[in-house]
Amino acid sequence: KIVPVIMAGGKGTRLWPLSRSAAPKQFLQILSERSLFQQTLERVGDRTRYEPAIVVTNSDFRFIVAEQARTIEAELGDILLEPVARNTAPALAAAAFAVLGRYGEGAIMQVLASDHEIDAGVLYEDCILRAQAAAGRGELVTFGITPTEPATGYGYIECGDELAEGTNRVARFVEKPDRAKAEAMIATGRYLWNSGLFMLPVTLFLDELKRFAPEVFDAAKAAVEGAYKDLDFTRLHGESFAAAPDISVDYAVFEKTDHAAVVPSSFPWSDLGSWDAVWKTGRKDDDGNVVTDRATVSNTRNSLVLSRDIHLAVQGLEDVAVIAGEDAVYVGRLDDSQSVGHIVKALARSP
Ligand code: GDD
Ligand code: MG
Repeated sequence: KIVPVIMAGGKGTRLWPLSRSAAPKQFLQILSERSLFQQTLERVGDRTRYEPAIVVTNSDFRFIVAEQARTIEAELGDILLEPVARNTAPALAAAAFAVLGRYGEGAIMQVLASDHEIDAGVLYEDCILRAQAAAGRGELVTFGITPTEPATGYGYIECGDELAEGTNRVARFVEKPDRAKAEAMIATGRYLWNSGLFMLPVTLFLDELKRFAPEVFDAAKAAVEGAYKDLDFTRLHGESFAAAPDISVDYAVFEKTDHAAVVPSSFPWSDLGSWDAVWKTGRKDDDGNVVTDRATVSNTRNSLVLSRDIHLAVQGLEDVAVIAGEDAVYVGRLDDSQSVGHIVKALARSP
Protein backbone atom coordinates (compact mmCIF):
# COMPACT_ATOMS: atom_id res chain seq x y z
CA LYS A 1 0.00 0.00 0.00
CA ILE A 2 1.05 3.58 -0.62
CA VAL A 3 2.02 5.68 2.38
CA PRO A 4 0.63 9.22 1.91
CA VAL A 5 2.74 12.07 3.24
CA ILE A 6 0.93 15.40 3.33
CA MET A 7 2.99 18.59 3.53
CA ALA A 8 0.96 21.13 5.43
CA GLY A 9 3.49 23.54 6.86
CA GLY A 10 3.56 26.27 4.20
CA LYS A 11 2.71 29.86 4.97
CA GLY A 12 1.16 30.92 1.65
CA THR A 13 -0.17 34.47 1.88
CA ARG A 14 -1.22 35.17 -1.69
CA LEU A 15 -4.90 34.68 -0.87
CA TRP A 16 -4.92 37.60 1.54
CA PRO A 17 -7.09 38.61 3.38
CA LEU A 18 -8.43 35.07 3.80
CA SER A 19 -4.98 33.56 4.23
CA ARG A 20 -3.16 34.84 7.30
CA SER A 21 -0.05 33.66 9.06
CA ALA A 22 -2.25 31.83 11.59
CA ALA A 23 -4.42 30.32 8.82
CA PRO A 24 -2.52 29.70 5.61
CA LYS A 25 -4.10 28.69 2.32
CA GLN A 26 -4.26 24.92 2.96
CA PHE A 27 -6.60 25.34 5.93
CA LEU A 28 -9.07 27.75 4.30
CA GLN A 29 -12.52 26.89 3.05
CA ILE A 30 -12.34 28.89 -0.12
CA LEU A 31 -15.12 27.78 -2.43
CA SER A 32 -15.97 24.57 -0.61
CA GLU A 33 -17.14 23.40 2.80
CA ARG A 34 -13.91 21.44 3.01
CA SER A 35 -10.50 23.09 3.29
CA LEU A 36 -7.86 22.19 0.71
CA PHE A 37 -6.09 20.18 3.43
CA GLN A 38 -9.28 18.22 4.12
CA GLN A 39 -9.76 17.60 0.40
CA THR A 40 -6.20 16.27 0.28
CA LEU A 41 -6.93 13.87 3.14
CA GLU A 42 -10.05 12.66 1.36
CA ARG A 43 -8.05 11.92 -1.77
CA VAL A 44 -6.03 9.31 0.14
CA GLY A 45 -8.94 7.97 2.19
CA ASP A 46 -9.29 4.58 0.49
CA ARG A 47 -7.78 2.16 3.06
CA THR A 48 -7.52 -0.66 0.52
CA ARG A 49 -4.88 1.35 -1.35
CA TYR A 50 -3.46 3.84 1.15
CA GLU A 51 -2.05 3.58 4.65
CA PRO A 52 -3.29 6.31 7.05
CA ALA A 53 -1.64 9.59 6.05
CA ILE A 54 1.37 11.07 7.77
CA VAL A 55 1.00 14.84 8.03
CA VAL A 56 4.14 16.99 8.36
CA THR A 57 3.46 20.48 9.60
CA ASN A 58 4.73 23.33 11.71
CA SER A 59 4.08 23.08 15.41
CA ASP A 60 2.01 26.30 15.16
CA PHE A 61 -0.60 24.49 13.04
CA ARG A 62 -0.96 21.33 15.16
CA PHE A 63 -4.44 22.04 16.51
CA ILE A 64 -5.90 23.16 13.21
CA VAL A 65 -4.55 19.98 11.56
CA ALA A 66 -5.93 17.71 14.28
CA GLU A 67 -9.28 19.50 14.32
CA GLN A 68 -9.73 19.52 10.53
CA ALA A 69 -8.87 15.80 10.33
CA ARG A 70 -11.28 15.02 13.17
CA THR A 71 -14.21 16.89 11.56
CA ILE A 72 -14.06 14.71 8.46
CA GLU A 73 -13.24 11.58 10.50
CA ALA A 74 -9.97 11.01 8.68
CA GLU A 75 -7.70 8.44 10.25
CA LEU A 76 -4.12 9.73 10.49
CA GLY A 77 -0.93 7.70 10.75
CA ASP A 78 0.89 10.49 12.55
CA ILE A 79 1.30 14.25 12.76
CA LEU A 80 4.99 15.19 12.66
CA LEU A 81 5.70 18.62 14.10
CA GLU A 82 8.51 20.89 12.98
CA PRO A 83 9.70 23.31 15.66
CA VAL A 84 10.76 25.85 13.00
CA ALA A 85 10.05 26.19 9.27
CA ARG A 86 12.88 24.90 7.08
CA ASN A 87 10.96 24.43 3.82
CA THR A 88 10.02 21.15 2.18
CA ALA A 89 13.34 19.25 1.97
CA PRO A 90 13.83 18.86 5.74
CA ALA A 91 10.09 18.24 6.23
CA LEU A 92 10.06 15.45 3.65
CA ALA A 93 13.33 14.03 4.88
CA ALA A 94 11.89 13.71 8.38
CA ALA A 95 8.73 12.12 6.97
CA ALA A 96 10.84 9.66 4.96
CA PHE A 97 12.72 8.53 8.09
CA ALA A 98 9.41 8.12 9.89
CA VAL A 99 8.01 6.05 6.99
CA LEU A 100 11.18 3.95 6.86
CA GLY A 101 10.96 3.22 10.59
CA ARG A 102 7.33 2.23 10.38
CA TYR A 103 6.97 0.45 7.03
CA GLY A 104 10.52 -0.67 6.21
CA GLU A 105 12.82 -0.34 3.21
CA GLY A 106 10.36 -1.31 0.49
CA ALA A 107 7.91 1.48 1.35
CA ILE A 108 6.67 3.85 -1.32
CA MET A 109 5.43 7.23 -0.19
CA GLN A 110 3.17 9.56 -2.10
CA VAL A 111 3.94 13.17 -1.30
CA LEU A 112 0.99 15.53 -1.54
CA ALA A 113 0.94 19.28 -1.24
CA SER A 114 -1.98 20.28 0.96
CA ASP A 115 -2.89 23.47 -0.85
CA HIS A 116 -3.96 22.38 -4.32
CA GLU A 117 -7.33 21.99 -5.98
CA ILE A 118 -7.39 18.67 -7.84
CA ASP A 119 -10.17 16.83 -9.59
CA ALA A 120 -9.34 13.26 -8.60
CA GLY A 121 -11.26 11.50 -11.35
CA VAL A 122 -10.13 8.76 -13.75
CA LEU A 123 -7.29 10.81 -15.23
CA TYR A 124 -5.82 11.34 -11.79
CA GLU A 125 -6.23 7.69 -10.81
CA ASP A 126 -4.53 6.61 -14.00
CA CYS A 127 -1.52 8.80 -13.13
CA ILE A 128 -1.32 7.30 -9.65
CA LEU A 129 -1.14 3.79 -11.12
CA ARG A 130 1.60 4.77 -13.59
CA ALA A 131 3.50 6.56 -10.83
CA GLN A 132 3.19 3.61 -8.46
CA ALA A 133 4.53 1.26 -11.12
CA ALA A 134 7.48 3.54 -11.90
CA ALA A 135 8.30 4.04 -8.22
CA GLY A 136 8.23 0.26 -7.86
CA ARG A 137 10.90 0.08 -10.59
CA GLY A 138 13.11 2.46 -8.62
CA GLU A 139 12.28 5.94 -9.93
CA LEU A 140 11.61 9.17 -8.06
CA VAL A 141 8.38 10.10 -9.78
CA THR A 142 7.04 13.59 -10.43
CA PHE A 143 3.61 14.44 -11.83
CA GLY A 144 3.86 16.78 -14.82
CA ILE A 145 1.08 19.11 -15.94
CA THR A 146 0.90 20.66 -19.42
CA PRO A 147 1.74 24.37 -19.00
CA THR A 148 -0.74 27.00 -20.13
CA GLU A 149 1.37 30.12 -19.49
CA PRO A 150 5.01 30.98 -18.67
CA ALA A 151 4.40 30.97 -14.93
CA THR A 152 7.43 31.70 -12.76
CA GLY A 153 6.11 30.14 -9.55
CA TYR A 154 6.46 26.52 -10.66
CA GLY A 155 9.11 23.93 -11.31
CA TYR A 156 9.56 22.89 -14.98
CA ILE A 157 10.25 19.33 -16.08
CA GLU A 158 11.83 18.52 -19.44
CA CYS A 159 10.51 15.18 -20.73
CA GLY A 160 13.22 12.79 -21.84
CA ASP A 161 13.10 9.24 -23.19
CA GLU A 162 10.08 7.08 -22.61
CA LEU A 163 10.69 4.55 -19.82
CA ALA A 164 7.30 2.86 -20.05
CA GLU A 165 3.96 3.85 -21.52
CA GLY A 166 3.01 7.21 -20.06
CA THR A 167 6.24 7.52 -18.11
CA ASN A 168 9.34 9.46 -19.15
CA ARG A 169 12.81 10.09 -17.85
CA VAL A 170 13.20 13.65 -16.50
CA ALA A 171 15.82 15.16 -18.80
CA ARG A 172 16.05 18.32 -16.73
CA PHE A 173 14.26 19.85 -13.77
CA VAL A 174 14.27 23.63 -13.43
CA GLU A 175 12.77 25.08 -10.27
CA LYS A 176 11.09 28.51 -10.58
CA PRO A 177 12.74 29.99 -13.69
CA ASP A 178 12.50 33.67 -14.59
CA ARG A 179 9.95 34.72 -17.19
CA ALA A 180 12.29 34.63 -20.20
CA LYS A 181 13.50 31.14 -19.35
CA ALA A 182 9.94 29.97 -18.76
CA GLU A 183 8.88 31.29 -22.18
CA ALA A 184 11.83 29.61 -23.88
CA MET A 185 11.08 26.29 -22.22
CA ILE A 186 7.41 26.39 -23.15
CA ALA A 187 8.30 27.22 -26.77
CA THR A 188 10.19 23.92 -27.11
CA GLY A 189 7.00 21.98 -26.30
CA ARG A 190 8.98 19.52 -24.21
CA TYR A 191 8.36 20.96 -20.76
CA LEU A 192 5.73 20.25 -18.13
CA TRP A 193 4.94 21.95 -14.84
CA ASN A 194 5.86 20.15 -11.66
CA SER A 195 2.57 19.68 -9.85
CA GLY A 196 4.21 19.26 -6.45
CA LEU A 197 2.98 15.65 -6.17
CA PHE A 198 5.60 12.92 -5.94
CA MET A 199 5.70 9.13 -5.68
CA LEU A 200 8.95 8.10 -3.98
CA PRO A 201 10.61 4.84 -3.00
CA VAL A 202 11.68 5.81 0.46
CA THR A 203 15.20 4.32 0.44
CA LEU A 204 16.12 5.78 -2.96
CA PHE A 205 14.82 9.18 -1.88
CA LEU A 206 16.95 9.10 1.27
CA ASP A 207 20.01 7.88 -0.70
CA GLU A 208 19.71 10.81 -3.09
CA LEU A 209 19.15 13.22 -0.26
CA LYS A 210 22.24 11.97 1.52
CA ARG A 211 24.22 12.48 -1.66
CA PHE A 212 22.96 15.93 -2.68
CA ALA A 213 21.89 17.48 0.65
CA PRO A 214 23.81 15.72 3.43
CA GLU A 215 23.06 18.46 5.99
CA VAL A 216 19.34 17.98 5.43
CA PHE A 217 19.74 14.20 5.68
CA ASP A 218 21.73 14.36 8.94
CA ALA A 219 19.46 16.93 10.57
CA ALA A 220 16.28 15.02 9.70
CA LYS A 221 17.73 11.69 10.83
CA ALA A 222 18.69 13.13 14.21
CA ALA A 223 15.35 14.95 14.49
CA VAL A 224 13.44 11.69 14.01
CA GLU A 225 15.73 9.68 16.30
CA GLY A 226 15.25 12.28 19.02
CA ALA A 227 11.50 12.74 18.42
CA TYR A 228 8.96 12.21 21.20
CA LYS A 229 5.21 11.70 21.45
CA ASP A 230 3.05 14.55 22.78
CA LEU A 231 -0.67 13.66 22.76
CA ASP A 232 -1.57 12.90 19.14
CA PHE A 233 1.59 14.51 17.85
CA THR A 234 5.18 13.51 17.25
CA ARG A 235 7.52 16.37 18.01
CA LEU A 236 10.73 16.30 16.00
CA HIS A 237 13.84 16.96 18.06
CA GLY A 238 14.08 20.76 18.07
CA GLU A 239 17.78 21.48 17.94
CA SER A 240 18.50 18.76 15.41
CA PHE A 241 15.74 19.87 13.05
CA ALA A 242 16.68 23.54 13.36
CA ALA A 243 20.20 22.66 12.18
CA ALA A 244 18.81 21.82 8.71
CA PRO A 245 19.29 24.43 5.98
CA ASP A 246 16.17 26.13 4.62
CA ILE A 247 15.72 24.51 1.21
CA SER A 248 12.90 23.06 -0.88
CA VAL A 249 12.99 19.46 -2.07
CA ASP A 250 12.91 20.72 -5.64
CA TYR A 251 16.28 22.44 -5.30
CA ALA A 252 17.73 19.88 -2.88
CA VAL A 253 16.94 16.72 -4.85
CA PHE A 254 14.96 17.06 -8.07
CA GLU A 255 17.24 19.53 -9.84
CA LYS A 256 20.17 17.18 -9.18
CA THR A 257 19.12 13.54 -9.28
CA ASP A 258 19.43 11.28 -12.34
CA HIS A 259 16.69 9.00 -11.05
CA ALA A 260 13.68 11.22 -11.67
CA ALA A 261 10.82 10.13 -13.88
CA VAL A 262 7.70 12.05 -14.87
CA VAL A 263 4.17 10.90 -15.50
CA PRO A 264 2.62 13.47 -17.85
CA SER A 265 -0.83 14.29 -16.58
CA SER A 266 -3.89 16.17 -17.68
CA PHE A 267 -6.15 15.95 -14.65
CA PRO A 268 -7.65 19.31 -13.59
CA TRP A 269 -5.10 20.85 -11.24
CA SER A 270 -4.61 24.32 -9.79
CA ASP A 271 -2.34 25.51 -7.02
CA LEU A 272 -4.83 28.36 -6.36
CA GLY A 273 -1.88 30.72 -6.21
CA SER A 274 -3.93 33.89 -6.76
CA TRP A 275 -7.49 35.18 -6.66
CA ASP A 276 -7.51 34.90 -10.43
CA ALA A 277 -6.77 31.16 -10.14
CA VAL A 278 -9.58 30.77 -7.61
CA TRP A 279 -11.97 32.54 -9.99
CA LYS A 280 -10.88 30.21 -12.82
CA THR A 281 -11.68 27.04 -10.85
CA GLY A 282 -14.95 28.36 -9.38
CA ARG A 283 -18.46 27.74 -10.68
CA LYS A 284 -19.63 30.82 -12.61
CA ASP A 285 -23.08 32.35 -12.89
CA ASP A 286 -24.41 33.49 -16.28
CA ASP A 287 -22.35 36.67 -16.07
CA GLY A 288 -19.14 34.84 -15.28
CA ASN A 289 -19.16 35.72 -11.58
CA VAL A 290 -18.05 33.42 -8.78
CA VAL A 291 -20.01 34.49 -5.73
CA THR A 292 -20.39 32.95 -2.25
CA ASP A 293 -23.58 32.79 -0.14
CA ARG A 294 -23.21 36.01 1.78
CA ALA A 295 -22.31 38.05 -1.26
CA THR A 296 -24.64 39.69 -3.80
CA VAL A 297 -23.78 41.14 -7.19
CA SER A 298 -25.69 43.31 -9.61
CA ASN A 299 -24.70 44.49 -13.06
CA THR A 300 -21.32 42.88 -12.45
CA ARG A 301 -19.33 40.61 -14.73
CA ASN A 302 -16.39 38.16 -14.60
CA SER A 303 -15.70 38.84 -10.97
CA LEU A 304 -14.89 36.95 -7.80
CA VAL A 305 -16.90 38.10 -4.78
CA LEU A 306 -16.29 36.19 -1.56
CA SER A 307 -17.61 36.68 1.91
CA ARG A 308 -18.31 34.29 4.76
CA ASP A 309 -18.92 36.49 7.77
CA ILE A 310 -20.51 39.71 6.59
CA HIS A 311 -22.88 40.76 3.83
CA LEU A 312 -21.04 42.00 0.78
CA ALA A 313 -22.60 43.67 -2.26
CA VAL A 314 -20.89 44.63 -5.49
CA GLN A 315 -22.54 46.83 -8.07
CA GLY A 316 -21.50 47.74 -11.59
CA LEU A 317 -17.96 46.34 -11.75
CA GLU A 318 -16.10 44.01 -14.08
CA ASP A 319 -13.06 41.75 -13.75
CA VAL A 320 -12.53 42.42 -10.07
CA ALA A 321 -11.84 40.43 -6.94
CA VAL A 322 -13.69 41.63 -3.84
CA ILE A 323 -12.80 39.53 -0.83
CA ALA A 324 -14.14 40.15 2.66
CA GLY A 325 -12.11 38.48 5.38
CA GLU A 326 -12.87 38.48 9.08
CA ASP A 327 -11.22 41.83 9.71
CA ALA A 328 -9.91 43.01 6.35
CA VAL A 329 -11.21 43.58 2.84
CA TYR A 330 -9.40 43.36 -0.48
CA VAL A 331 -10.57 44.96 -3.73
CA GLY A 332 -8.45 44.62 -6.85
CA ARG A 333 -8.34 43.77 -10.52
CA LEU A 334 -8.49 40.02 -11.12
CA ASP A 335 -5.77 40.19 -13.76
CA ASP A 336 -3.44 41.86 -11.27
CA SER A 337 -4.02 39.51 -8.38
CA GLN A 338 -0.37 38.43 -8.25
CA SER A 339 0.25 41.81 -6.62
CA VAL A 340 -1.50 40.78 -3.41
CA GLY A 341 1.89 39.57 -2.21
CA HIS A 342 3.30 43.14 -2.37
CA ILE A 343 0.41 44.47 -0.33
CA VAL A 344 0.86 41.81 2.32
CA LYS A 345 4.57 42.66 2.54
CA ALA A 346 3.79 46.35 2.89
CA LEU A 347 1.21 45.66 5.60
CA ALA A 348 3.68 43.48 7.47
CA ARG A 349 6.13 46.42 7.52
CA SER A 350 3.60 48.99 8.70
CA PRO A 351 3.25 49.33 12.49
N1 GDD B 1 5.71 20.60 6.58
C1 GDD B 1 6.06 21.63 5.83
N2 GDD B 1 7.08 22.44 6.23
N3 GDD B 1 5.38 21.86 4.70
C2 GDD B 1 5.73 22.92 3.95
C3 GDD B 1 6.80 23.79 4.30
C4 GDD B 1 7.50 23.52 5.52
O1 GDD B 1 8.43 24.22 5.93
N4 GDD B 1 6.90 24.74 3.34
C5 GDD B 1 5.95 24.47 2.45
N5 GDD B 1 5.23 23.37 2.81
C6 GDD B 1 4.08 22.74 2.11
C7 GDD B 1 3.03 23.75 1.65
O2 GDD B 1 2.00 23.85 2.62
C8 GDD B 1 2.54 23.11 0.35
O3 GDD B 1 1.51 22.18 0.62
C9 GDD B 1 3.75 22.34 -0.18
O4 GDD B 1 4.60 22.13 0.96
C10 GDD B 1 4.53 23.07 -1.29
O5 GDD B 1 5.10 24.24 -0.73
P1 GDD B 1 4.91 25.67 -1.41
O6 GDD B 1 5.61 26.67 -0.56
O7 GDD B 1 3.47 25.89 -1.73
O8 GDD B 1 5.76 25.45 -2.73
P2 GDD B 1 5.61 26.24 -4.09
O9 GDD B 1 4.19 26.30 -4.52
O10 GDD B 1 6.34 27.52 -3.97
O11 GDD B 1 6.42 25.28 -5.11
C11 GDD B 1 6.21 23.88 -5.17
O12 GDD B 1 4.94 23.56 -5.72
C12 GDD B 1 4.76 23.98 -7.11
C13 GDD B 1 3.37 23.57 -7.51
O13 GDD B 1 2.43 24.29 -6.76
C14 GDD B 1 7.33 23.26 -6.02
O14 GDD B 1 7.30 21.85 -5.85
C15 GDD B 1 7.20 23.62 -7.50
O15 GDD B 1 8.17 22.90 -8.27
C16 GDD B 1 5.81 23.26 -7.98
O16 GDD B 1 5.66 23.64 -9.36
MG1 MG C 1 2.30 26.08 -3.53
